[in-house]
Amino acid sequence: MKIGIIGSGHIGGNLGKHWAKAGHEVLFSSRHPKELISLAHDAGENAKAVSVTDAFNAHADAYLLAIPFEAIDQISELYAGEYDNKIIIDATNPYPKRDGDMAQKVRDANYNATEYTAMKFSTANTIKAFNTIIAEDLRDKAFRDYEKLSIPYAAQDEEGKAIGKKLIEDIGFDAFYIGSLSDSSIMDPNQEIYGRSMEIGKLKKLVNRTRGFLRG
Ligand SMILES: NC(=O)c1ccc[n+]([C@@H]2O[C@H](COP(=O)([O-])OP(=O)(O)OC[C@H]3O[C@@H](n4cnc5c(N)ncnc54)[C@H](OP(=O)(O)O)[C@@H]3O)[C@@H](O)[C@H]2O)c1
Repeated sequence: MKIGIIGSGHIGGNLGKHWAKAGHEVLFSSRHPKELISLAHDAGENAKAVSVTDAFNAHADAYLLAIPFEAIDQISELYAGEYDNKIIIDATNPYPKRDGDMAQKVRDANYNATEYTAMKFSTANTIKAFNTIIAEDLRDKAFRDYEKLSIPYAAQDEEGKAIGKKLIEDIGFDAFYIGSLSDSSIMDPNQEIYGRSMEIGKLKKLVNRTRGFLRG
């Protein structure tokens, strides 16, 4: 697949490297694409560094959002039309201290963080993934043959479910399907599974326990 990386820091940089290694075509982007040239070089021949606008002009099959949550408003205002029928993989998390009032509003709202992203990019097909794993584990624990870690993910429809699973498995993690975007609340900050890496059996148990607790 051709994958546009919007925000190429700890999360986008590492995921882009892994996908390039797995044979995908990767376009790293940020507001400062010249600073991404050595990252793209390290990622190998399947990767290059481009501006955010060029990433959209390249009509990738999927776009990873790995930007600070506050940038979602700006990126959606500028480019939401370009996401028409594209897959978005949303790895962002709202942190009021970093992202300001808009993140606090989302935390207080009756929708979860990914539903907010999906509202902003309403013509895209949104998947939530890679927001619960810490960057160091994402960097160091991909492509394992043993003690594989699992990545929880949620998807808007069957197509997103299949693509999310493939993009997780292609880089050596097990994919654990949480459900629809409204089910992804248990992937948000402060939830039990957030910031924790574990193998799929343990994750399944923890998700079931958390759901049982939430149902009371
Ligand atoms: N770090 C973690 O452990 C972790 C884990 C899971 C999820 N997340 C979430 O993933 C997202 C990214 O986190 P990160 O740790 O990867 O952050 P990071 O290392 O600071 O990287 C952010 C990237 O986004 C770019 N960026 C910032 N504003 C932008 C804009 N308006 N338009 C385009 N690009 C922009 C930055 O480059 P320029 O400033 O040059 O544009 C940089 O490449 C956050 O929402 C975070 O909560 C983080």
